[in-house]
Amino acid sequence: MIRRRAVRRGALAAEEIRSVPPRLRGRPDGVLRLGATVLALAAYTVLTACSGSGPSVLNPGGSGSRRVDSLWWLMFWISVAVFAIVLAFLLWGSVRRRREVRRGEATILVAVAGAAVPFLVLASVYGVGLDTLARLGTPRHRSVSVEVVGHQWWWEVRYPGTSAVTANEIHIPVGRTARVTLRTADVLHSFWVPQLTVKTDLIAGRTNTTWLHAMRPGRYRGQCAEYCGLQHANMAFMVVAESESDFAAWLRRAGRPTTPTTRAEQHGMQVFERLACGSCHTVRGTTARGRVGPDLSTLGARWSIGAGAAPNDAGHLGGWIANSQTTKPHNKMPPQPVPAADLQDLLTYLRSLH
Ligand code: CUA
Repeated sequence: MIRRRAVRRGALAAEEIRSVPPRLRGRPDGVLRLGATVLALAAYTVLTACSGSGPSVLNPGGSGSRRVDSLWWLMFWISVAVFAIVLAFLLWGSVRRRREVRRGEATILVAVAGAAVPFLVLASVYGVGLDTLARLGTPRHRSVSVEVVGHQWWWEVRYPGTSAVTANEIHIPVGRTARVTLRTADVLHSFWVPQLTVKTDLIAGRTNTTWLHAMRPGRYRGQCAEYCGLQHANMAFMVVAESESDFAAWLRRAGRPTTPTTRAEQHGMQVFERLACGSCHTVRGTTARGRVGPDLSTLGARWSIGAGAAPNDAGHLGGWIANSQTTKPHNKMPPQPVPAADLQDLLTYLRSLH
């Protein structure tokens, strides 16, 4: 009964196909559509986020990321080879004449192609991966030590043995290894500079270490890589790799107080002290010694305001002071109503700090 119904259904299906005009029945349309889809997918994978200049692991600027980059390409080409071989077998199987496979043959095929070869491939990749991990451990030779403390949502940066303190910006000498110790003041964060080093977590109650080594001078963007609250995305920083002499000059400059020279700067400094900015911020050489917010002693020279939230220019700084909550909601800085007559000099003073 069931068989008869199936046969009737089959006959019906054949009847339906025959009723479709030959123009629509043919395979070329389907093949074309499949081809177009494959091409579109290939173009999509090639064209997505591959500018080559962004903070990508595949654009390494340091010896740490170069190892990750090599591992990535090794795995990529192995995957390509495996994919091509499997596809070739699939095509060969679909076009060759069928013949009965003996039981012994099948067992050998499964043991070799299904177990031995995949095991060898995966074991080699695992071995290379372990070697890369070991080499990414803290190296013995270092020329600079940097202390980084993660806060919601900014990075405090200190250079032990000097009075240089900055925020959201780490200067290192190019070609030398900087040892970075990582702590958190609140929740879990993760320190990541894709072009220089892998991610290292900042865990409450622990001190972790990583290292930075840049092969060429430049600016390498870093990012918090562990969700840490509403402004996690705006917890970026910049690693500035510069020549040894430039780095030494920067370190000296950053450790010294900036003396206001012009009348506007002097008045701006008075406004800064009057507004009690110092209850949260520190500026070397002034009465401001707060530790809640970032140290502002080098503010004028930094790459951004609010850890990547806005460009560092007078307009954005003015807006940030008036109400930073519109730029970076839920950050700890409350709005500061500064009289218009004082704001310009305050900005001039803050932008002179370097
Ligand atoms: Cu800090 Cu995400």
